[in-house]
Amino acid sequence: MGAVSGMPTTEPTSTEDIAHPATYARAVPHAEFERRRREEPVGWVPEPALWRHSSAGRIQQRGSGFWAVTTHEAVMEVSRQPEVFSSARRGAFLHDPRTPADLDFMRQLLVNMDAPQHVRIRRIVTSVFTPRAVRSLADTVTRHARELVDGVLQRDTFDAVTDLAAELPLLVLADLLGLPRGDRHLLYRWSNNLVGFDDPEYGGGDVEVYRQTFAEAFQYALAVAVRRRAAPRDDLISLLATAEVDGRRLTDREFCQFWMLLVVAGNETTRHLISGALHLLLHDEQLRRRWLGGPLPTATAVDEFLRVVTPIMQFRRTATRDTTLAGTKIAEGDKVVMFYVSANRDAGIFADPHRVDLERTPNPHLSFGMGPHFCLGAHLARMETAALLDAVAPHLPRLATTGPVVRLESNFVNGIKVMPVGWT
Ligand code: HEM
Repeated sequence: MGAVSGMPTTEPTSTEDIAHPATYARAVPHAEFERRRREEPVGWVPEPALWRHSSAGRIQQRGSGFWAVTTHEAVMEVSRQPEVFSSARRGAFLHDPRTPADLDFMRQLLVNMDAPQHVRIRRIVTSVFTPRAVRSLADTVTRHARELVDGVLQRDTFDAVTDLAAELPLLVLADLLGLPRGDRHLLYRWSNNLVGFDDPEYGGGDVEVYRQTFAEAFQYALAVAVRRRAAPRDDLISLLATAEVDGRRLTDREFCQFWMLLVVAGNETTRHLISGALHLLLHDEQLRRRWLGGPLPTATAVDEFLRVVTPIMQFRRTATRDTTLAGTKIAEGDKVVMFYVSANRDAGIFADPHRVDLERTPNPHLSFGMGPHFCLGAHLARMETAALLDAVAPHLPRLATTGPVVRLESNFVNGIKVMPVGWT
């Protein structure tokens, strides 16, 4: 996709290297997470050197290293103390900001804020994502899901990721943001470039592709904002473009960052949940029979898919003071990474954690995070996934993979890029 498409961005790695994006292109290293939960629930991880490209050439960058938090209890402990484990200090992403300007830019994004700013900005959009507001979208979401499935029924073979799993969240996002549906492919490309930064096929570790993607997406967003300020509509962009916080509108940059967060968070994550769920159903005959055997509350099953897939595998915090976590001393300024993907398979909380139990209740998985940054789109993501799985269900017995599944090279999202399927 970018100028360096196909160029390897990373060095080879061992299967235990939980920091390396290439590890996850093979599989999530569950055995290593299990060992860590048992032996070092909060353990230090040196970061690998990763190749980055820019017009200045090719350089290797290495992060500061971090504490990997892998048990359910310790992840909860971090999430519940935002004043000790900050999102704003160095951002919520594993990747370290390189310069003060980088950090400044990042901090305009909701996930990278702390109270009180975080509370003020988050309040602007909470009304759009309440259970009641999301329920009002149910008919449209169901219709989109059925139309997508009707579409692929006309074809012998198709790609379960691009033609189904990616399409539904993009259509819903276009509706929610009030964009022409035809523009949804722009959103797809932008979020692939950003979230797939380390993947040779998408961002390719190319800093220019990254910058260019932001520039293009921001330019698009600002043009829409100008139109909506002149003539507001009943959509999320109008809300963001006209909202006032402390008596002033969001600056253009704040507006663009918020829009970008919704574009990325609203489509990548749900895509990977849906494709992860389909992958499990297509590769596990017993599971497929259980899904089709009914009666089964779809909502309970969707939460189990959320647990075992864990579309966002980790988020990062930074210690604001010296502290202790699960008996381990953490120093002020240390990077602390909460591995939801590990906490969700903690045998102390989930019986037989590697088994997919579609009736599992209670299911206190941490896939949407927890605490003040708890995912705003949780109800919407659950609804979209349930709608798509329900629409596919009658046809599931005839659906089979027809080629190799290709995973995303990312240590952030647990993603499948390609899943060729066909009707038998
Ligand atoms: C399966 C789908 C999804 C998963 C697994 C997921 C996961 C998460 C997680 C783990 C966080 C916490 C971030 C942190 O603690 O730093 C988060 C935050 C967020 N999510 Fe989601 N998400 C999903 C879908 C969505 C959707 C559909 C939207 C919107 C349309 C959305 C919007 C957001 C926003 C705006 C935040 C930031 C909240 C804040 O910082 O206060 N998410 N999400």
